[in-house]
Amino acid sequence: MNTEPALPNVVTTVEALRREVAAARRRQQRIGLVPTMGALHEGHASLVRASKAQGHFTVVSIFVNPTQFAPGEDLDRYPRTLDADLAKLSACRADVAFVPSADEVYKPGHATSVDVDRLGRRWEGEHRPNHFRGVATVVLKLLNMAAPDVAYFGQKDYQQAAVIRRMVADLDVPVEIRVCPTVREPDGLAMSSRNVYLSPAARGRATVLWKSLCLAREMVAQGERDAAVLAEQMREVILSAEDARIDYIALADPDTLEPVERIDGPTLAAVAVTIENTRLIDNEILVP
Ligand code: PAF
Repeated sequence: MNTEPALPNVVTTVEALRREVAAARRRQQRIGLVPTMGALHEGHASLVRASKAQGHFTVVSIFVNPTQFAPGEDLDRYPRTLDADLAKLSACRADVAFVPSADEVYKPGHATSVDVDRLGRRWEGEHRPNHFRGVATVVLKLLNMAAPDVAYFGQKDYQQAAVIRRMVADLDVPVEIRVCPTVREPDGLAMSSRNVYLSPAARGRATVLWKSLCLAREMVAQGERDAAVLAEQMREVILSAEDARIDYIALADPDTLEPVERIDGPTLAAVAVTIENTRLIDNEILVP
């Protein structure tokens, strides 16, 4: 007897997706959506498992969204690994893989986009022009296409999750946004589809992001409250990797993302660093 879990049902059109979702609703199932750009890893799998653990009919979208890449970024070389992705989705028992073409998502004449003010402007927004406009627009479209009860995102993209929460609240989108913990490699590197770009040597150096966050966590545990002191120590750790280029080290309120000067409550520490042409991000909540 074949005991392999079945591949998820692959649909490529909004119409077919809506048929699947409607059938699940007729079976009284709630819907979970995990939006991804493919090149799936354990981080994505943890989101699918979180949705399945709730008993949700789980839709995983796989779409490398061109509008969130700036000119000169890695849109063309972004890893596309559909067969391996489907095998992973089958292992975590996703129900549907929604794999639309760019034309299916952005119909001819597409002219509408979503801009999330303030939250989307700083950090990633500063270094990746129009990035969050592309993210917010495609996520709103995916939410409208799949009409899920719950949508799952990873904490690694903390600012993205904050932007999406804001958008959903501001535009009265009837969905719950759930943010799941970052999944890490054994040496602490946050899992990311972009880690495959790193050479083995750079992959080793990339651990400085997590090391800098761990140091900040430790310093806060030992009583340090000055954000500038923490940022300076984090900078030193990151720059111990010979070619590391820091885009930002941020210490901020975890809800508003406003920078803080003192660590008087839970505080977001977030970093973006380029190592060997690969831009990596990570974050941790520091609790005094
Ligand atoms: O986090 C990602 O993979 C993407 O930004 C998302 C949310 C799937 C939108 O394209």
